[in-house]
This record gives sequence, C-alpha cells and structure tokens, in this order.
Amino acid sequence: MSVSPAQLFLVATPIGNLEDVTHRALRVLAEVDIVAAEDTRHTRRLLERYGVAARLVSLFEHNERARVSKLLAELKAGRSVAVVTDAGSPAVSDPGYPLVRAAAPHDPHDLISLQAGARTFVNYCLGCHGLESMRYGKLTDLGLTEAQIKDYLMFTADKVGEPIRTVMPRKESKSWFGVAPPDLSLAARARSADWLYTYLRTFYRDAKTVTGWNNAVFENVAMPHALWTLQGERAYDRESGKWTEIAKGIQSPADMTPRCATSSISWCTSASPPLPAAR
Ligand code: HEC
Repeated sequence: MSVSPAQLFLVATPIGNLEDVTHRALRVLAEVDIVAAEDTRHTRRLLERYGVAARLVSLFEHNERARVSKLLAELKAGRSVAVVTDAGSPAVSDPGYPLVRAAAPHDPHDLISLQAGARTFVNYCLGCHGLESMRYGKLTDLGLTEAQIKDYLMFTADKVGEPIRTVMPRKESKSWFGVAPPDLSLAARARSADWLYTYLRTFYRDAKTVTGWNNAVFENVAMPHALWTLQGERAYDRESGKWTEIAKGIQSPADMTPRCATSSISWCTSASPPLPAAR
C-alpha cells in the first residue's frame, strides 16, 4: 500500500517508548503531504529519531476550528494528511476528531446512523424516489430484524423480497416537477457521498423557482427541500456565498439527518448488485 492523494490517516504513535512505533506509521508519516500534530515539538522528536522529514502543522483544541477548514481545503486539493496525537491513537476526545468527522460526514460502519438513515429515507424521500436495486430484506445487514423492517420501513411493499420502490407514478411526477425524480440506486451512485451530503444541506429559499426552493450545488433543482421542517429555512446569496437563517428547524444539530441519509443511501448503492453496463 502506498499513500494516495487526498487521504486522511489517523496515525497511532507510541505511548511510552519511541521504539514502539510501527513501520507502517513511519511510512505514512514520511509519505503524506502534511502531518497535523497535537504538539509539533513532541511529534518532531519522534520524526527526527527516525529521520523522517515531514511538513508539520499543529492541530490542538484551541486552533482546531480554523485549522480543520484549512486541512479540509488541503484534502480537497488532493493532498494527503496524517493526524497524530501526542501518544496513542487519535480518538473521539482528542484533537483530530472534528477533522475526521468533517472529512467523513458519513460513516458506512455506523449502524445506528445507517438505521436512522433508512428511516429518513422512508419518511422523507421514498414518496418521490425509489432505490430499486435494493430489496427491503437486505436491510437486515444493518442489524434490523425482518419484523422491524416490516413494521417501520416497509410501506411500499408486502414482502421483504421486494425492491425499495417509490409509490409515485413516474408520469405524474414528471408533470408535477418537470423532471421525474430519479431512482436513487442509479442517481446517487453517479454522485459522491460528499456531494450527496452537501446537496442535502444546501437547499435555500428562492422565490423565483416553481417549488420556492433552490440548491447551492444543483442550481434550479426541481426537487423541493425535503428536510426543511428539520433543517429550517435559509437564504443564500450566490455572489457572496453568504447564508442567512430565515426560520429554525426542529432538529439540532442540523446536519444529523443529511448525515444519516447520506450514509444510508451510500451504503445501499454500494451494497446493491453492480449495475448493468449500459441501458
Ligand atoms: C417531492 C418529491 C421529492 C422528494 C420528497 C425528494 N426528492 Fe430528491 N428529487 C426530486 C426531483 C423532482 C429531482 C430531480 C431534480 C432535477 O433534476 O432538477 C430530485 C433529485 C434528487 C437528487 C439528484 C439526483 C441527480 O443526481 O440528478 C438526489 C441525490 C435526491 N433527489 C435525493 C433525495 C433525498 C435523499 C431525499 C430525501 C431526503 C429526496 N431526494 C426527497 C424530488 C424529490
């Protein structure tokens, strides 16, 4: 394995003896573009000991907010970043964690968020979109029982073997929205999880569109803001990039539903069978 661009690494460093560091940790530290360290002096000692040259920046509690956005920009620009703390593995309470969360807004291994996302999908998306390459029964992989799936998630099918289909008739939806809402097995696969998450978070009020909504990453989108009761309403000025809150949603934090929905949709699109090559 070698370090490829735009990756974020969490590197465990020795808790006591500097010799306990792994070869892999040293190699990652040597190969990444930037090493974000809780205490640069501390980490420099380790690097010097092994002759590793690295671009070190600090990432600790008090500069974290400003630093995370800079590091995210580096990741977006295709550079790789390693996060190390003074000792041990960067974890939930350490510096670094907000960066991990910000860089990976969706966690495909977090079952609770995947289950919440499946529920979000059924409650807020299934009215218009299907996920037809996925069968209801497959949701047992998320730790749900068939009974739970039937009771809480299955409103558009009788048997768990059926695909996740929308109830919306395609013809009518086209006349309502101008564009038929695409089946998300296909549409979401063509988009990255980051895009999906950003899309769900950047609806704004726009009196000039038919639905009264617009979207920062999908201009003049035909979809209304499906999560607005949760996320609230905002105005957005494209020129300045400035957001203004118009009304609060009932949910806080506001990114939770999009995060869960994104995890779940990404999980569904990657867990479903490969698509036919061309149609
Ligand atoms: C009231 C109907 C409706 C609801 C509810 C709805 N959507 Fe949509 N959605 C649409 C329509 C219509 C489009 C097509 C937009 C266009 O092409 O302008 C769309 C487009 C999309 C796209 C873009 C697909 C692409 O790449 O072109 C995504 C992703 C999406 N919806 C996700 C969701 C999610 C997730 C939810 C639930 C939180 C949701 N939608 C709820 C109607 C809906």
